[in-house]
Parts: sequence; C-alpha cells; structure tokens
Amino acid sequence: MTRKRKTVEELRSQRWYAPQDLRSFGHRSRTLQMGYSHADYAGKPVIAIVNTWSDVSHCHSHFRQRVEEVKRGVWQAGGFPLEMPAITLAETLQKPTTMMYRNFLAMETEELLRSYPADGCVLMGGCDKTGPGLMMGAISMNLPTIFMPAGPMLTGRWAGRPLGSGSDVWKYWDELRAGNITERDWREIEEGIARSPGTCMTMGTASTMTSIIETLGFSLPNAAAIPAPDSSHARMASLSGRRIVEMVWEDLKPRDILSADSFDNAIKVLMALGGSTNALIHVIALARRAGIDLVLDRFEEIGEKTPYLVNMRPAGQYLMEDFYYAGGLVGLLEGMRALLATDALTCTGRTLGENIAGARIHNEDVIRTPSNPMRPDGGLVVLRGNLAPDGAVIKANAAEPRLLRHAGPAMVFEDYNDMAARLDDPDLPVDADSVLVLRNAGPLGGPGMPEWGMLPIPKKLLRQGVRDMVRISDARMSGTSYGTCVLHVAPESWVGGPLALVKTGDIIELDVDARTLTLKIDDAELERRRAAWKPNPPRYERGYGALFSQHVSQADRGCDFDFLEGTATTPDPEIH
Ligand code: FES
Repeated sequence: MTRKRKTVEELRSQRWYAPQDLRSFGHRSRTLQMGYSHADYAGKPVIAIVNTWSDVSHCHSHFRQRVEEVKRGVWQAGGFPLEMPAITLAETLQKPTTMMYRNFLAMETEELLRSYPADGCVLMGGCDKTGPGLMMGAISMNLPTIFMPAGPMLTGRWAGRPLGSGSDVWKYWDELRAGNITERDWREIEEGIARSPGTCMTMGTASTMTSIIETLGFSLPNAAAIPAPDSSHARMASLSGRRIVEMVWEDLKPRDILSADSFDNAIKVLMALGGSTNALIHVIALARRAGIDLVLDRFEEIGEKTPYLVNMRPAGQYLMEDFYYAGGLVGLLEGMRALLATDALTCTGRTLGENIAGARIHNEDVIRTPSNPMRPDGGLVVLRGNLAPDGAVIKANAAEPRLLRHAGPAMVFEDYNDMAARLDDPDLPVDADSVLVLRNAGPLGGPGMPEWGMLPIPKKLLRQGVRDMVRISDARMSGTSYGTCVLHVAPESWVGGPLALVKTGDIIELDVDARTLTLKIDDAELERRRAAWKPNPPRYERGYGALFSQHVSQADRGCDFDFLEGTATTPDPEIH
C-alpha cells in the first residue's frame, strides 16, 4: 500500500527547529553546541533511539556498540539520530522485581518522546520487561516506531552439555539440594550458563516477547531470533535505523499497525512457541494501550485451536541458537501461515504475509509443522473457579502430565519469607500429594508480582525423588521455569482474593482439562472466612511505590496503571 509521504514542514521536530523566533534560536544553537552542524539535522527526521543500556544491564551489554550501528543506519537514510537513555530493567539484579518498573519504563519512554523533538523512534530492549515497557510507551505516544531486539545469548555449556538460561539453573539447584551434584559442579555451571551478551536463550519471557513484538509488526523480519553476538544482529541494527527514517516519511504509526487481528496473531505465536506465561500480562497491557479490549478468555479460545510447535526449553529440548538455525521466527510463521491473519500491516510497510513469504524450516524437530506438533493445543491454560474468580494461568506443557488433574491438601505459606524459612524444615507436614500455596506475591502484595511462582520443592521430598508438585500463587513465574505451577491468581490475596482465605489442610482441586481451580470448602465457610479477613495497610507512603500501589491493575487486566490505559489524547507540549 502506498502511503502519502510527509513533507519536511509536517515533521514534528520542525516545531522546535524551523521557526525564526527566540525559542527556536535556542533549540538550534544548543544542537550546534553538541558539535552538529546545520546540515546534520536541518529538515531531517529526528530519530529518538531509546536505549536501555547501563552498566547493570547484563543482557544489553552490547547495546553501546549496537546503538552506533542503529545511528549509522539513521544517518545513511537521511535522519538525525539522538540517543535517549531510559531506565535499565536488569532482570536478575533489580529488586523487588523488574515488573514493578515496567510501567516506569513505559512512562519514561512516552514522556521522552513527547517532550523532545522526536519524529520517530528506535526502541532498544529485550531483557524481559524492557520490550513490553518500551512498546507500551511508544504505543501511547503513537509516533513511528521500530523495535530492535537485543537477541538471545549463545548456548550455555557445562561438562559437554548445553545449558539453558533459568531452566537449567532450577534443575541443577534441585540436584545440588538433593546431593546429586557437587559445589564445584555448581560453580562451573555458574560460569558457563551466560557466556555472551544477549537475553536468556530459552523460550523465556525475553524471546517470547521479542517474537510477539515482531509478530505484531514492530521489528524487521526474523530480528527476534538472531543471536546477540552474530554479525547479522549488527546488520539488523543498522537496517532498523535505515527503516525508521522511511517510516517517518510514510507516517506509519503504531496504531496504524495494531489491530484485533495482529493481537490474535501474537497470541497464536505465543501458543506455537510454548511461550512464557508472563506474555498474558504484557500482551493484554499492550492491547489496552492501543484501545483494544483484550481479555484472558481470548487466549483460551485461541490456545485451544493453536498447536504448540517449537521444541524449546523450558517445555521442550532446544535453545534459541537452534531455533535461529532451524529457520527462526519467519520459518515458524511461514509454517503456520494458514493460521495467521497475513494481511496485518508491519513496520516494513508490507504485510506480515509478504514479510515471511519464502521463509523455510531447516530442522523440523526444532520447528514443527501444524501436521506434526509438539501438542495439538497451545498449552497455556486459563483456569477459573472459587479460588480464582478473575482467572489464573498454568503452562500445561511444562507440567508433569499426571498432576494436571490432582486434588491434595494445601500447605500455605503466608509470604516469601515464611516459605523460605519453613520450606526445608524436616517436620513440614507435606508429601508428594500436597499443594503448595504462596500468598502475598501479587501486584500489590509482592509488591510488583515477583517471579516466585515456581515454588521450590521441599528438600525432604527432593530426597525422595519428587521433582514436581502442584503449586499455586498470585505471583508470576520466570518464562524459563517449569512445573505444575498455577500462577497469576486474580484477584490477588493482598486485596482479599480467595487465596487469602485458604488454610493449611484444605483440599484444593486442579483440573486442567476442565479449566478449573477449586477450593473444596462450602460457600458458607468461604463467606465466614471472607468476613473475618482484615485489609492490609499500604506498603508505600510515598514515591513511585505509592503511585504504583494506587494505580496498578490486577494480572487479568495487564498490571498497567489505570491512568495509562486507552488512547485518550495527551496534548503535545507547547513550544515556548
Ligand atoms: Fe535478561 Fe533473562 S535475564 S532476558
């Protein structure tokens, strides 16, 4: 489709640079102060490069180099690149959890773009919450946007075996606690599991979300699959810089690209990837920023009909390098073309179907076709019942099949510290049939809904050979985690959701086929407990924590701030 091209006069940045008045004199002279000449910027699209690099951004340590490659592309295409750093959300180092700051990054992105003379932007992210945070802000600002994913790190190695981010940490941690590997083994694993720049190389939240963002139309074809250190990644960075300049002239904006169909495509890809449960929260938040009222039931409807196709850890066998060599995201999308709305528009100016045309699958054990799936449905299941009236989520394809229909006595932990203190007590009244319950780990209770949902197996059960149990919480779980973990219980226990009312010894029934999660007590007893429940005091009196506490929504609504949802117009600043 040919779009009407913008004129120089129509560029947003011209409001800062073009007028012959006192203020614009200041804008021009201060740009010259940075060493640029008039020829560098005059009449050119200003491209904001929102970079989440910092010294603590472990997954983005190559972004100092990549940003130069993005700038090269912008210059080559006749744009004026301006790098604008934004908050780092370094998944493992930031406490209480990066999820607490996803909306912070979204606000920062939106306001950077609004308050400076940006005509379009390149978003540099990838580590879990950075993709959704950057995209949420850019969707709200609605300037031409391209997302440059950090790319996965190289495959980890230990003792001749591949190591997968997260997944193998949990696995070998259990083996260490069970006495099956040594402290020396554990140290070698620590040194071998993250051996290059880039994001987790399992199908965790990072690769799930970068694949979803590409499917939604915001990255160049196959960008999400390229390993971070690969020279193709550097070329993708400069091509992203080139393309954004054209997107500005074409006035191709996020809300021209996003539609109910593109979100359906994203959910289908999530299911085909066997992707992270975190995506349910992030995709809902992205949709609501675009004015699309996506609800959990849509994941359920699509999940029932979409096969799980990508054989990757934590649910399968392979890692992101294998996925890339097997054909990557474009190979997967071409293989499942019949399931997709291929006329959805993308950042290339072409449709999704045009972008993936001719892509091939080179290894059908890594990327399966719909005729030979890993399983016939997506494996991300939405549960409801008296324990989760507003929904809960389980990654059924990462659970032991025998536990997908299970009833057992609850062992309740009041919060994370209570769990950590008692879990390995030899007298803890648990056996392999027990259902571990963790409360006060949701958006407000955590706070920030930390990734505590894969509760550790009690040591005494590990020694008996138990490696999976039913676990229930209002927390999230790392996309690299696995096990029979019921997550995102809504409403959360901190605000009086039914999880707050469970007592140790109550029978809880999980039935994944029936999509139910049931506390087996009668309604009258549940009401008695509810009447006796006492509200929690606010966790924060001031600062960002107070803002977060007052405005964050529950998991089924995407955990966005209520005042940031929707498409109401925020005025551009007056240029005084
Ligand atoms: Fe950054 Fe996993 S820690 S993507």
